[in-house]
Amino acid sequence: MEETQNKKIIFRDYIVGAPKETDMELKEGKVKMKVPKGSGAVLVKNLYLSCDPFIRGRMRDNHNSYIPCFVPGSVIEGFGVSKVLDSDDTNFKTGDLVSGLTGWEEYSLIQKTEHLRKIQQEDIPLSYYIGLLGMPGFTAYAGFYEVCSPKKGEYVFVSAASGAVGQLVGQLAKLQGCYVVGSAGSSQKVDLLKNKLGFDEAFNYNEEPDLDAALKRYFQQGIDIYFDNVGGRMLDAALLNMRIHGRIAVCGMISQHSISNPEGIHNLFVLITKRIRMQGLLQSDFLHLFPDFMKHIISHYKQGKIVYIEDMNEGLESAPAAFVGLFSGKNVGKQVICVARQ
Ligand SMILES: NC(=O)c1ccc[n+]([C@@H]2O[C@H](COP(=O)([O-])OP(=O)(O)OC[C@H]3O[C@@H](n4cnc5c(N)ncnc54)[C@H](OP(=O)(O)O)[C@@H]3O)[C@@H](O)[C@H]2O)c1
Repeated sequence: MEETQNKKIIFRDYIVGAPKETDMELKEGKVKMKVPKGSGAVLVKNLYLSCDPFIRGRMRDNHNSYIPCFVPGSVIEGFGVSKVLDSDDTNFKTGDLVSGLTGWEEYSLIQKTEHLRKIQQEDIPLSYYIGLLGMPGFTAYAGFYEVCSPKKGEYVFVSAASGAVGQLVGQLAKLQGCYVVGSAGSSQKVDLLKNKLGFDEAFNYNEEPDLDAALKRYFQQGIDIYFDNVGGRMLDAALLNMRIHGRIAVCGMISQHSISNPEGIHNLFVLITKRIRMQGLLQSDFLHLFPDFMKHIISHYKQGKIVYIEDMNEGLESAPAAFVGLFSGKNVGKQVICVARQ
């Protein structure tokens, strides 16, 4: 059977602290270009791969996590956009474009095809199917509408606001008629938030020694909704600025991923005094809403009411550095790896 070379990114061993490029390794392998009959699998060529913070969680030796940890020596798994080369699953045929979980490699034999989605609308950039129209976009949609219960005119704060999730949360909040402020880690990102993504205000948290004072400056009336992507001291400061009956969507704690002793949260008493609803969210709990999400976002995107900023790195080799960069804010927008263009 015909075989071809297959470059892959291998996960070396469980990590503690921030991920490093050396936790991953580029290796050459071979792949058979035909799917074994009766396997139900599909063989794909990977076009775009997504760097997501949750991949860090799979590098920990934590078998109690909501998602299985990687096995040392195996190919890193994440979301991707791929082209079907051969299929033993009647739902997919050669030439189909699909999005779903795949390997960080040039070609993948995907055994679990039930989560693959066929890409129907090809007049949208293909890489958006792992960003705006993929898991991060869906997290923003489900988190904002289902967890934050937004109302017109409310005051919304988003952290990691220029990232894959945050940039869409802010735009959805603007479409809802809210006042929206985002925080991000550089002046370039602040500029994008204000001038490209339509946030009312934005600030660089690295230039704010007193986050409570910064939030008081931007939210003189207080915050109704805090969409929390970072946790830690930003969450603590936001708590102090919440309004009565405010909502906090606890989406991510990226500031805590790389430290062994998580920072404590000191201001939880306001949950009582201000009757705040603070709710953790996992996008996968809302998958029944995925078709509504696609309709809503595609319609707004096509009308020019939503834009999406990507940070595209070229070549599979660039994936480890791009992934590691998420944890120091190197990415400007959704971090994508282009492995091949069709
Ligand atoms: N619950 C769910 O279902 C779900 C789904 C998807 C994502 N998430 C979470 O949502 C958050 C955002 O994910 P994303 O995909 O949109 O990533 P992203 O924002 O595109 O990239 C991560 C960003 O986090 C910021 N960051 C990194 N280290 C930080 C630190 N120590 N303190 C503060 N900010 C830091 C950086 O932006 P700055 O330069 O602005 O600091 C970086 O660009 C993550 O916490 C992720 O785990 C949750």
